[in-house]
Amino acid sequence: MTATDPAAQRVDSTIDTTRPHPARVYDWFLGGKDNYPVDEELGRRITAIEAGAPRAARANRAFMRRATRLLARERGIRQFLDIGTGIPTEPNLHQVAQSAAPDARVVYVDNDPIVLAHAHALLRGTAEGVTEYVQADAREPRAILEQAARVLDFGRPVALSLIALLHFVADEDGARDLVDTLTDALVPGSCVVMSMMTADLEPENVHRGIAAYAAGGVTLVARSHGEVSRFFTGLELLDPGIVSVADWRPELADDFEADLGPGPISLYGGVAVRR
Ligand SMILES: C[S@@+](CC[C@H](N)C(=O)[O-])C[C@H]1O[C@@H](n2cnc3c(N)ncnc32)[C@H](O)[C@@H]1O
Repeated sequence: MTATDPAAQRVDSTIDTTRPHPARVYDWFLGGKDNYPVDEELGRRITAIEAGAPRAARANRAFMRRATRLLARERGIRQFLDIGTGIPTEPNLHQVAQSAAPDARVVYVDNDPIVLAHAHALLRGTAEGVTEYVQADAREPRAILEQAARVLDFGRPVALSLIALLHFVADEDGARDLVDTLTDALVPGSCVVMSMMTADLEPENVHRGIAAYAAGGVTLVARSHGEVSRFFTGLELLDPGIVSVADWRPELADDFEADLGPGPISLYGGVAVRR
């Protein structure tokens, strides 16, 4: 279902403000206004345990911008499929991609109705390019591919981004299968960007944070470096491989990046090419 489909309007009313939602808690971490008291309460509880959570959100957002800029500028990518988009936070992925390549075509996907409610902000792209929004669940990758194919030509390279998404999808819920299905649809020269939570760097804090999310009804999975690497199987990782998102190609930083301060960022990120 796309933002322009009349059916999309029907989903709008299903925003549940009684329980925290990952997209809105993340928005709170980023200093946004599109969250409810229940999200702020969970955000505050997590920050009390893991003071670095808002820093991790900012570092992850910066990783998205650096990776997108690299793909548009240096790899010539003109098509982007971003799954687990989140509530719009400027600059959004299409703004980064289209400022490097105004004709870039971008399809956003999220399953949270609040993101759909803000889709109009995601759809303001360049006249030369295209931006579209699809409300769908990442655990149904075939349906996503079908809808994205209305805008993207899968016979040409596509950048697939799953940024801070996969820690919301457990292995038993098909995390590996969804990545395989999506990457199998990409032609050589396509790229894959992924970031996800790890407990490798600060195990105690991260596990306490996961418990706080669980108490708020949100399931999170932390993965080791080896487990994250397996999602990139069959793809060729670009330098510097899988590292904390804060350490991924810092030379590509833009003016939106502020100093994160000391301490590890417990999210691994990597960018790879399909050969
Ligand atoms: C932490 S935010 C990341 C936003 C953005 N990708 C970024 O990195 O700045 C995670 C997003 O994934 C979405 N999400 C979680 N599970 C999902 C699923 N099964 N299908 C689609 N989206 C999902 C949430 O609604 C939320 O908007």
